[in-house]
Amino acid sequence: MPGTVVVGTQWGDEGKGKIVDFCAQDADVVVRFNGGSNAGHTVVTGAEVFRFHLIPSGILRPETLNLVGNGVVVDPEVLLAEIEELKERGHPVDNLRVSERAHVVMPYHRTLDGLEEELKGGLKAGTTLRGIGPTFEDKAARIGVRVGDLLDEEALRERLATLVPMKERMIEAYGGQAGLSKEALFETGRDWGDRLQAYVADTSLLLDHALKQGREVLFEAAQGTHLDIDHGIYPFGTSSNAVVGSASVGSGVGVRHLNQVIGVAKAFTSRVGTGPFPSELAGEEASYLRDKSLGEYGTTTGRPRRIGWLDLVMVRFAARVNSLDYLAVTKLDVLGGLDPLRICVAYEHDGETLREFPASMRVFGACRPVYEELAGWEDISEDSWVGAVKRGYDELPGEMRAYLDLLSHETGVPVGLVSVGPAREATLELRGT
Ligand code: GDP
Ligand code: IMO
Ligand code: MG
Repeated sequence: MPGTVVVGTQWGDEGKGKIVDFCAQDADVVVRFNGGSNAGHTVVTGAEVFRFHLIPSGILRPETLNLVGNGVVVDPEVLLAEIEELKERGHPVDNLRVSERAHVVMPYHRTLDGLEEELKGGLKAGTTLRGIGPTFEDKAARIGVRVGDLLDEEALRERLATLVPMKERMIEAYGGQAGLSKEALFETGRDWGDRLQAYVADTSLLLDHALKQGREVLFEAAQGTHLDIDHGIYPFGTSSNAVVGSASVGSGVGVRHLNQVIGVAKAFTSRVGTGPFPSELAGEEASYLRDKSLGEYGTTTGRPRRIGWLDLVMVRFAARVNSLDYLAVTKLDVLGGLDPLRICVAYEHDGETLREFPASMRVFGACRPVYEELAGWEDISEDSWVGAVKRGYDELPGEMRAYLDLLSHETGVPVGLVSVGPAREATLELRGT
């Protein structure tokens, strides 16, 4: 199976970074294909914790080529800082390449992100303020700057001559203070180009070569299905496609190379940002999960994540639009100590039971969760969980296996990976068994 895609099934932060790093042990290439530095993917190796915003989560495997595909919007400041940090921590990044077709997040995109959020009122998504929306707006409007332009002084100068006055008018119209300098932006762009030059490549071609040689490729999504611009909770999601189809478009290979799809599902639900959240918890249970799970603060923004019970209407929808082969279920350890547990299997809306996710936010906002109640399992130490997964599936608590059975039954997708801790060793592979 040379091409495996890893997608998020919820609202992001499902643990994609951990799962991609784990699967990268068998991969020759890892490619990020969507989003930008709004993503925050955590990888834990031994005592070290890494948080990647743009660099693919396979970077810690030195034999694996890591590609930032054309579908990613690249903020060079963030990318260069990540490269520097990795080098300082003793991890060379000679195995990194960035698509010349990827769009660049310019300083004015961040400014516009903030201004748009202020004006959006009830449509505000609570963005990461990383300039993501405005960069994708420019890409679609064909007024963007691409990574390749940073290496071509003439193209860059020409683009900025046209774009800067347009952007100034936009910023002013939105009530901001423009004051952009074409020359300063040109110098910044050229400097980025100089520093990134060694990494810039035709990543689609590199992928094609690898696939023709039968190499294993992992496609890494950012965000989650329910943040996807088409399939997510519009207008509260993000500006790119986070579903499996985007792996082809955002990396430049045909769909026949997407042979297997893994959906990462957190054992409960979290959300950073605004919008309805039917299974949301308040009070003690939310604080218990958030505080126990150190990761439940936004990796990119540090905001506390909103927490809720596992919502299988969401995961069922993700199974459909991504044609999932397997689920990778993460953070099961974090639920330990809560009893009973609840799983949302349907919504109640206006006296009717909905099993499918609604498109309308007005409908979604009025949905009440229909829960199944299950017995919880014990809260045990990280080492004990690692010991349990080493001994195999049957050694996991019976209540946890019942929880996974319900998940699988309700979504129609088998569980292929079980994660009970941030570390690589806290992972149980069931695929093929
Ligand atoms: P991503 O955006 O999908 O890559 O997820 P994030 O990295 O933003 O958030 C996931 C958080 O959960 C990170 O802090 C991970 O280290 C952590 N994590 C992943 N899997 C597990 C798990 O099975 N158990 C626990 N306790 N933490 C996990
Ligand atoms: P990873 O890859 C969680 C959310 C933001 C906001 C909305 C739009 O780590 O799973 P944007 O900055 O994209 O315009 O914000 O999307 N969001 C995420 N939430 N995880 C992410 O990425 C996210 N990327 C964007 O909080 O509600
Ligand atoms: Mg994240």
